[in-house]
Amino acid sequence: MSQAILKLEHVKKNFGPKTVLHDVNIEIMRGEITCIIGQSGHGKSVILKNIMGLMKPDGGRIIFDGKVISSPTTPDSEYDKVRHKFGLLFQGAALFDSMTVGDNIGFTLRERTNLTEEEIQERIKNGLSMVGLHNIEHQMPAELSGGMRSRVGLARAVALEPDIMLYDEPTSALDPIMSDKINDLILDLRAKLNMTSIVITHDMGSAYKIADRICMLHNGKIIFQGTPAQIRSSRNSYIQKFISGHRKLFYAMEAEQELDKQVNLSSVHKEAHKKIFHGVQELKVVPKTRSVGDA
Ligand SMILES: Nc1ncnc2c1ncn2[C@@H]1O[C@H](COP(=O)(O)OP(=O)(O)OP(=O)(O)O)[C@@H](O)[C@H]1O
Ligand SMILES: [Mg+2]
Repeated sequence: MSQAILKLEHVKKNFGPKTVLHDVNIEIMRGEITCIIGQSGHGKSVILKNIMGLMKPDGGRIIFDGKVISSPTTPDSEYDKVRHKFGLLFQGAALFDSMTVGDNIGFTLRERTNLTEEEIQERIKNGLSMVGLHNIEHQMPAELSGGMRSRVGLARAVALEPDIMLYDEPTSALDPIMSDKINDLILDLRAKLNMTSIVITHDMGSAYKIADRICMLHNGKIIFQGTPAQIRSSRNSYIQKFISGHRKLFYAMEAEQELDKQVNLSSVHKEAHKKIFHGVQELKVVPKTRSVGDA
């Protein structure tokens, strides 16, 4: 049976007079992927920053492996003991532009661990291979595509061998194909390393694809925590509205992948793509010998 590796209990966070997190309770199970969803500005990134130790709760507590690591009264030294257990993929990867890919990955290993240079080179290679990249250690970040930069960012986090990986909107700046690759990598890390992951996402398509558990934040509280199947069958009208508002994009992504598989899109691809993402309903899959108008 799954065990909670991380718990947020009654977590509260204020900014001046404004309370952003009222009473957040979340259980993160070991080896699972938990997606946190919710409207913009409702405090998803603030939850993540509290878990990462970048902010401290004003009430409640955060428990890792049975020990309180953060609360208004817990000394920072308690968090410092477990800081290395958390890995973060920053939005847009946040690579150092003046360093090679290899040095980007090696930098924190050199700063934070006592590994030998040989061991560091091994970790760099393994980290890159884990995200499907090879022999790019000497390239500069500017030479890479957006998707490759995200993957290098992920390799950098994974090379530190964290117990929990956190992602803040890992697919938001990427096209649907590249988003799917990042989702596959998150699933891969679970399959290969039994990695526990927390993924903040706006994209219900990604959440349905990768999540073992979904938590929904609304007005500073978790109003739902359960499996993707359970959220789909929730009778709460706000939840239904939220998830169905995103369902169109989910179906559009599935439709696009289906189109990619079935027809040679060379001539109609751009038009089809545009129609799908503008929610035009009448698009039909047509054999490549026929034009869209014939369908
Ligand atoms: N350091 C800060 N100081 C003051 N207010 C902050 C700070 N960080 C976040 N907030 C406020 O907390 C609220 C929640 O912000 P947060 O970034 O967590 O939202 P979010 O759910 O991640 O939104 P999005 O989906 O747009 O990323 C916002 O009103 C934001 O202005
Ligand atoms: Mg955010």
